[in-house]
Amino acid sequence: MHDTLHLRRCRTLYLEPRQQTSFDLRALVSGGTGMTLRSVWTALAPHLPAPVELNESQVLLLGRLDPERWEPRPAGEDDSDLRYLLAHGLVQAQGADRDALAEREAQLRQVPWWGPAAMLHWQGRWQGQDSVKALESAGLHTAAGLRAHLGPPPPALAPHAGEPRRLPRQPEEAFDRSLRERSTCRNFDTAQPLPLAELSRLLQRTLAETGRQVVEEDAVFLKKNVPSAGGLHPTEAYLLVQHVEGLQAGLYHYDPASHGVSALPSDARSMAELAVLFTAGQHWFADAPVLIVLAPRFARTYWKYRHHPKAYRAVILDVGHISQLLLTCATEQGLGAFVTAAINEQDIEQVLGMDPMQLSPLAVCGVGWRAQQMSTSEFDPGGQVWTPVLTAEPPTG
Ligand SMILES: Cc1cc2nc3c(=O)[nH]c(=O)nc-3n(C[C@H](O)[C@H](O)[C@H](O)COP(=O)(O)O)c2cc1C
Repeated sequence: MHDTLHLRRCRTLYLEPRQQTSFDLRALVSGGTGMTLRSVWTALAPHLPAPVELNESQVLLLGRLDPERWEPRPAGEDDSDLRYLLAHGLVQAQGADRDALAEREAQLRQVPWWGPAAMLHWQGRWQGQDSVKALESAGLHTAAGLRAHLGPPPPALAPHAGEPRRLPRQPEEAFDRSLRERSTCRNFDTAQPLPLAELSRLLQRTLAETGRQVVEEDAVFLKKNVPSAGGLHPTEAYLLVQHVEGLQAGLYHYDPASHGVSALPSDARSMAELAVLFTAGQHWFADAPVLIVLAPRFARTYWKYRHHPKAYRAVILDVGHISQLLLTCATEQGLGAFVTAAINEQDIEQVLGMDPMQLSPLAVCGVGWRAQQMSTSEFDPGGQVWTPVLTAEPPTG
């Protein structure tokens, strides 16, 4: 390798010593369990598809390279270590053709992520998970199972000293009744399509633009019925439509300005298959006539909150506000609705063509008519939705 090579390492990089277990027949024959423990250095960098294993000299070499400036290759380093780091996208050579990893690293540099948040986001995304199977096999799919396996939870109410001063309870109004009637819907009527007007009303109330402030032609701030950190409204909504009267089944992007939807390309898989994949095997959610994928554009929030430790938290809170309003409005319309964070983010990104560090789903909501019969439990101890009063336990979401 040429000595005047100029190098730069990737900007966002964390190193973690991990313990790896492997099976070793010799260890078994010599009277042990057959399992051996090995310590490996792992490079975590959110422009990569997966963590990369390193040896100690590669770790030291990475530590000698600058993440911002192109600098001459350090003297006395092993060629094979440098080749490995270059091949795995952890180091780039100045002037070299950009491969896909280098391209993604360059894209990532455009968004002023706070490093730990980038790591949290990148590492927390699932692919191909079946959360139902995982919970069932661990016996953690009911509240009783959780109690049996995990012991008692911290108390439902925080302890407090003395008797609280009681506040005057107010007479109930229609709004209070509607609030009480919200219950996470896990039983959708698969025979009854959702009328387009109901979907349109819901999206209009929760996601549509209601006003705007144009500071300059290229600096526009939208007003919506939900609050948003910095008034930035970074969250995009994508629809997976299965059963909406007047809207063909398929994938759509929602445009808050025109209150319109644009059809998106899909692969050969059916919407039913994708719905199960999106909701990580939760068939009770996958039945919803329409799923609403909530995916922030991180650059919009990080534009204001550069490298800010609170920005990612704010984005998550934004998505929480949207989902709450969705559930409240759906209930008021007489519909069942849910929100879930148990989603296969990586699969959703792949289907919708998202770069996870630019645009990525944080939650999926669903809405539709509730079924007449309950087959999956819902949490309705007061019998607000289902009569007679149910004592069955909900799945633990
Ligand atoms: C952020 C979030 C994630 C959730 N994820 C799931 C889930 O993955 N599966 C599920 O069945 N319910 C999920 N739920 C629903 C909760 O289980 C539900 O809110 C809780 O049991 C209380 O019931 P209720 O919503 O009917 O009052 C989620 C709720 C929230 C707010």
